[in-house]
Amino acid sequence: MDLPRLGFGTYGRTGPEGRDAILAALEIGYRHLDTAQTYDTEREVGEAVRLSGLPRDEVFVTTKVSEGNLGEGQVIPSLERSLEASGLDHVDLALIHWPARKGGPAPEVYLRQLSEAKARGLARQIGVSNFTIALIEEARSILGDGVILTNQVELNPWFRNRKLADHCMSRGIVVTCYEPLARGKVGADPVLQRIAARHRATPEQVALAWELAQGYAVIPTSRNPDRIAQNFAAQDLALSSDELAEIDTLDRGIRSIDPDWGPVWD
Ligand SMILES: NC(=O)c1ccc[n+]([C@@H]2O[C@H](COP(=O)([O-])OP(=O)(O)OC[C@H]3O[C@@H](n4cnc5c(N)ncnc54)[C@H](OP(=O)(O)O)[C@@H]3O)[C@@H](O)[C@H]2O)c1
Repeated sequence: MDLPRLGFGTYGRTGPEGRDAILAALEIGYRHLDTAQTYDTEREVGEAVRLSGLPRDEVFVTTKVSEGNLGEGQVIPSLERSLEASGLDHVDLALIHWPARKGGPAPEVYLRQLSEAKARGLARQIGVSNFTIALIEEARSILGDGVILTNQVELNPWFRNRKLADHCMSRGIVVTCYEPLARGKVGADPVLQRIAARHRATPEQVALAWELAQGYAVIPTSRNPDRIAQNFAAQDLALSSDELAEIDTLDRGIRSIDPDWGPVWD
């Protein structure tokens, strides 16, 4: 299955309330769920998939191997624990959540294990997250061309991340935007509000429509079924080329997720 371009993020969607939000997303029509070993939502994702009654092969499930599980002999057991937590027999996509910090395992060490996880059927496809251009090139030289499905990175109208996104696209790697709504703050943008009013839409829908129009995947989340549905409907919103160009000018260049142990960004 190709990566569905509209997915549902599950950060914060823990417990019965979180599971119900994930289930609501599936009922609304989302067919891509984004979890991670550190989110504590793998169980909720598995429960929601089963409760939805959807055939397993109609839902694309992504998980991410946490930075603490990248050492020799750690990646595959960590993915086995992920599958045990979710009760699923495979994920559709396994990502390296963050490159190892300085002094940690080399990309060769964890990417070979990720590739082996795919060969063993734990994950149908593999990819990365928070990788820079240099790390993407290193990963391509280790894994070969056409293996990395996506690089999941911070990207929204206020944080354009264009250099990295353009590089990924030029190498056939899908860009998946995390924080596609800048954690909900992008709705305050006056340009997005003005364009939204013209389309009888919301500024959040305009942000998502702009990201989708670039060919990126998006994984917004919400606890609220109305907003979950509203975000899903963004895929029906067509923006003009002038509107897309105007949104391109909103970049503030301020990264929101920037741990001190993270990579040297582009
Ligand atoms: N790979 C990584 O390192 C990484 C890092 C961060 C996130 N992620 C993934 O990306 C997903 C999305 O990122 P995110 O959750 O940080 O940020 P986000 O999706 O940009 O924003 C979520 C916030 O926006 C609000 N919101 C959602 N839809 C809205 C709407 N239509 N109108 C107004 N407010 C709305 C939500 O509040 P309510 O719940 O109150 O609606 C929530 O507080 C995560 O769930 C996770 O799966 C990955």
